[in-house]
Amino acid sequence: MSTRKILVTSALPYANGALHLGHVMEYIQTDIWVRFQQLRGHQCTYVCADDAHGTAIMLKAEELGITPEQHIANMKAEHERDFRGFLINVANYHSTHSEENRYYSEMIYKRLRDNGHIASRTITQAFDPEKELFLADRYIKGTCPKCKTEDQYGDNCEACGATYSPTELIDARSVLSGAKPVAKESEHFFFKLPEFSDFLKHWTRSGTLQNEVANKLAEWLDAGLQEWDISRDAPYFGFEIPDAPGKFFYVWLDAPIGYMASFKNYCDQTGMDWDEYWGEKSEAELYHFIGKDIVNFHALFWPSMLHSAKFRTPTKVCVHGFLTVDGKKMSKSRGTFITAESYLKHLNPEYLRYYMAAKLGPGVDDLDLNLTDFVQRVNADVVGKVVNIASRTAKFVAKSGGQLSHNIAEPDLWQRFVDASDTIASYFENREYAKAIRDIMALADAANEYIADKAPWALAKQEGSEAEVLNICSLGVNMFRALMVFLKPVLPELAAKAEAFLNDELSWDSLSAPLLGHNVNAFTPMVSRVESDKVDAMIEENKAAAEAQAAAIAANKPAPAPEEASIEPIAEQINFDQFAAVDLRVALIVNAELVEGADKLLQLTLDIGEEKTRNVFAGIRSAYAPEGLIGRHTVMVANLAPRKMRFGMSEGMVLAAGPGGGDIWILSPDAGAQPGMRVS
Ligand code: MSP
Ligand code: ZN
Repeated sequence: MSTRKILVTSALPYANGALHLGHVMEYIQTDIWVRFQQLRGHQCTYVCADDAHGTAIMLKAEELGITPEQHIANMKAEHERDFRGFLINVANYHSTHSEENRYYSEMIYKRLRDNGHIASRTITQAFDPEKELFLADRYIKGTCPKCKTEDQYGDNCEACGATYSPTELIDARSVLSGAKPVAKESEHFFFKLPEFSDFLKHWTRSGTLQNEVANKLAEWLDAGLQEWDISRDAPYFGFEIPDAPGKFFYVWLDAPIGYMASFKNYCDQTGMDWDEYWGEKSEAELYHFIGKDIVNFHALFWPSMLHSAKFRTPTKVCVHGFLTVDGKKMSKSRGTFITAESYLKHLNPEYLRYYMAAKLGPGVDDLDLNLTDFVQRVNADVVGKVVNIASRTAKFVAKSGGQLSHNIAEPDLWQRFVDASDTIASYFENREYAKAIRDIMALADAANEYIADKAPWALAKQEGSEAEVLNICSLGVNMFRALMVFLKPVLPELAAKAEAFLNDELSWDSLSAPLLGHNVNAFTPMVSRVESDKVDAMIEENKAAAEAQAAAIAANKPAPAPEEASIEPIAEQINFDQFAAVDLRVALIVNAELVEGADKLLQLTLDIGEEKTRNVFAGIRSAYAPEGLIGRHTVMVANLAPRKMRFGMSEGMVLAAGPGGGDIWILSPDAGAQPGMRVS
C-alpha cells in the first residue's frame, strides 16, 4: 500500500457565533476520517479556519462596540477552544481575514478576470438611507404582497410560501434601522458561471460527489446556471477588489480560498510543499467535508473558479445532512440548541464522538441525537462492551505477573478480528461509520461471549488452572486491543489510555500480530458511564440561557444580526416596531413562593399599579430565594399574552439576565421607581 497524500478540510465556521453540536457533527465526521487515514499510515493533513468576512460580522462587531478584527479574534479563540474540546485534531486553524487569503483571493480573481470570466454591470438594490448600507433580502421585512401576512422577509413569505423581490413587499422596512429602503444603483462584478456548464456536467459526474448530490446538481445544471454576484459595496468587512475602490469580494468568494490560505500558513510553518497539493497537476488528494446547505458553493462555484484559475479541483466533496435533537430541529427555547461549550461543560466529548460515529452514514440524511438513546448506547457499547473486556480480564493477567501468554487460546476467534479489518477499513474510508461500528460491536459481543463462557473468575478458583486462566485472559486483552485499534479514530483518548495499559502503540498494522509474551501495565478505569442527569442539566442550562437572552433582548439590547446561514432562522429577531410594542413596567414583588413540583420556578405576585395583582411564574429559583425577592422592584413585560402553565396562569414575564444557574439577575429599576411606571 503506497502512502497517500491527502489534504482535508471542513467548512469554515462563521466568526459570528458559538459552535453548536451541528457544527461539531461535521468536525467529528471529518476528524474520524482524518485520524483513520493517519492510523493507516497515510500523510493526511486537516486544515480549517474561521470564515471572518461579511455584513453580519461587521454588524455584530458594531453591536458589541468593538472592531471587526477584535470580534473575529475573540470568536476564533472560542472556536479553537471548542475544536480542542472535542478532540478535533486540525493541523492548522487559520482565518479568512489573513494575508495568505488576501493573496490567493486577489490572484484567483485576477486570473478569472484575465480569462474573461468576470462581467460587470449596474444593478439596482434596496438601500438603507439611515445606515447607508445596501440591504440583503434578509435585512428587509414587510407585508407579503400575496397573502398580506405582516412581518415577512424580503425574499419569501413564511405564511404562504410565495417568493418575490423585496421591492414587491408592502411597507418594506430595514431590519437594521426601521427606515424605508430606497432603490439605489451600483456596479457589481459577476462570475460567469454559465460558461462552466459543460465543465461542471462532467466534473460533478466524475466520482467527486455522492450520487444523490450529483443528481440534485444535474437538476440545477439542466435548469441553466446564472452569473454569480461576487462583489459588495462598502461598507463591508472583507477584501477590497483589485482595481475597484469601494468594492469588496463577497464573503463566499474568499471563503473557500481560505482552505488554500490555511494550508499555505501551515506550509510556511512546516516546510510542506503547497504546490504539491494545489498545483493543477497535483497528485495529492483533496477532500472537502461540508453540510448540505452549502453544496452550490463547493460543487459549482468553487471547482469552476479553480478550473479557470488553473488550480487542481477537489477529489471529493463529502456532503452530510443536518443534526436534529430528539427528532426536531435544534431549538433555543427547548434547550436543544446545544453549544459546543455547554456540552463540554457537562459531558465527555468521546461520548458524542462515539454516538455520532454509530449513526453516521455516507449520505445526506439528517442525523438525530436522541438524548435517551445517546445515554443508553454509549453506556451499553463503550462501557458495557468494549472496556468491560479489559476490565474483566486484566486483573488475572496482573495476578500472573502482568505478562501475556505466549499463545493464542482460540486462533479461530482471533482470526475473526484480523479478517474483519479490511471490511472495517473500507467502511471508514467510505464514511460508513455506522457500519464500521456495527461490525466492531459484533466483535465485542463475540469477545464478551467467549469470556462469559470461559468464566476465568470461576476457573481461577480451581487449583492448577493458572496457565489456562492466563491464556483466556490474554486472548481477552488481545481482542480488546484489536477493538481499540478499530476505535482509535473515534475514541482517541480512550485509545491513549488503552495504549498506556497495553504498553503498545496502536496502528492499523497492530492487527498483523497479537501481543504474545508481552508485558502489560496495571489496568485503571478508563471511562465512566454517561449520567442522564448531566444531560438534563445541560438541556436546562441551554434553556435558561435562551430565556435570559430573550429577556435581555426585550430589556433593551437591539436584536442580534442574523447569521448568514443560521440553523434556527432568526426566531428571536424582532424589528423596532415589535420592540416598541413590548410594554415594560416597573413591578413591585409583593409575594414570592416556591412552586410545588417545579424545582426551577418561583411564583411571583406582582403589583404594577393595576387593580389586580399579576401572577407570574419565573424560572429564577436557582438564583433567588423567595424571601429575598419580596418587597423588591423589578421590570416586567406587562402586555405578554397570559400563558396557561401546569401550575396556573402566568400573566406576564419578569426580565432577567445572566448565564443561568445561580447567575441570573432580575432587572431592578432605579430607586424611586413606582409600580406601573413605564420603562423605556
Ligand atoms: N462559513 C460557511 C462555510 C464556508 S466554507 C468555505 C458556513 N458556516 S456555518 O458556520 O454556517 O456552517 C459551517 C458548517 O456547519 C457547514 O458545513 C454547515 O452545513 C454545518 N452545519 C451548520 N449547522 C448544522 C447542523 N445543524 N447540522 C449539521 N451541520 C451543520 O456555512
Ligand atoms: Zn404570504
